[in-house]
Amino acid sequence: MKTKVYIIKDPKVDEKKIVEAAEIIKNGGIVVFPTETVYGLGADALNEKAVEKVFMAKGRPQDNPLIIHVASKNVELYAKEVPEVAKQLIDKFWPGPLTVILKKKDIIPGVTSANLDSIGIRMPDDEIARKLIELSNTTIAAPSANISGRPSPTDFQRCIEDLDEKVDCILGGEQSNIGVESTIVDCTVVPPIVLRPGGITLEMLRGVDSGIQLDKAIMQKPQENLKPKAPGMKYKHYSPNAKVTVITGERKKTIEKIKEMVHYNIEKGKKVCILTVEENVNEYTDGVSIVIGSIKDLSTVARNLFEALRKCDDLGADIVLAEGYEEKGVGIAIMNRLNKAAGFDIIEV
Ligand code: TXA
Ligand code: MG
Repeated sequence: MKTKVYIIKDPKVDEKKIVEAAEIIKNGGIVVFPTETVYGLGADALNEKAVEKVFMAKGRPQDNPLIIHVASKNVELYAKEVPEVAKQLIDKFWPGPLTVILKKKDIIPGVTSANLDSIGIRMPDDEIARKLIELSNTTIAAPSANISGRPSPTDFQRCIEDLDEKVDCILGGEQSNIGVESTIVDCTVVPPIVLRPGGITLEMLRGVDSGIQLDKAIMQKPQENLKPKAPGMKYKHYSPNAKVTVITGERKKTIEKIKEMVHYNIEKGKKVCILTVEENVNEYTDGVSIVIGSIKDLSTVARNLFEALRKCDDLGADIVLAEGYEEKGVGIAIMNRLNKAAGFDIIEV
């Protein structure tokens, strides 16, 4: 299949391209589009055949449900019950990087929700994304626009790398500002539970409802016998081809341990990449250091994390050593992604 790639500098000036992409969605095609979290691969969520194409293009397991994307807060169109706390969360954080899980209406086909009776819904804070949804005149089901298992794309070039000739159209916008996928809150239970941490932090959510809890599974290695609440959490994720290890603990000790591991691996003839921050980069003299942000502003780390993992592949790294972060604020989302990328190979010093 020939993929149309349209770069959009200004959604108003380039509206024609979004109109064309919306026509593709209406006709049952699949389209990559930018969002503030990561790029998404979208289809008409109400069209089974179109949604199946999304699973095919990504190589995604069928039992992993999709999030539907809306351009209005009128979630009653798709949700059977909207608890008060969900209304408040929507009011406060939409448009933005928050997905609420609600009981679904029958209008949402089983392929979209992987036959669950609930559905994740979010309104992206990206003009191109919302325009596309509005013009498509439906709700758009969209997982991240990567081949299943690879790091989510925050840049349209990475979408081309993964999905060229597998999708009908790619809308290229700016680099995703948040850089990790949306926070997912299950609002079908009391108290609501965070199933996936993201840009909307636990602290922010608790400003709305102090009872909101983090799912314990978030920071643990998935257990064979335990069925995760978000089916996607059991799969290997965000992995570059290299072997990733996370080293956490006190700053000086972390740096020492990483240096030791760099030398050990270089001796063995391995190519080593270090994921570090601007405050620490000068400590490392060997291996290839990739600066992903600043310890003083973890949102920079979240923004650059997935791109850095992909860069390790570009560089042909065998081993990736990543510094750990404090599990606070957006640090929880960063550590969740890093731990998964590492297959929970974590060294505490
Ligand atoms: O930021 C995002 O959410 C991005 C952009 C494109 O919007 N999308 C995204 O979709 O990350 P995806 O498919 O890569 O991740 C969706 C996650 C999966 O782990 C899935 O299992 C979980 O959401 N999920 C979806 N519906 C669910 C439901 N009804 N109950 C529990 N978990 C659900
Ligand atoms: Mg994904």
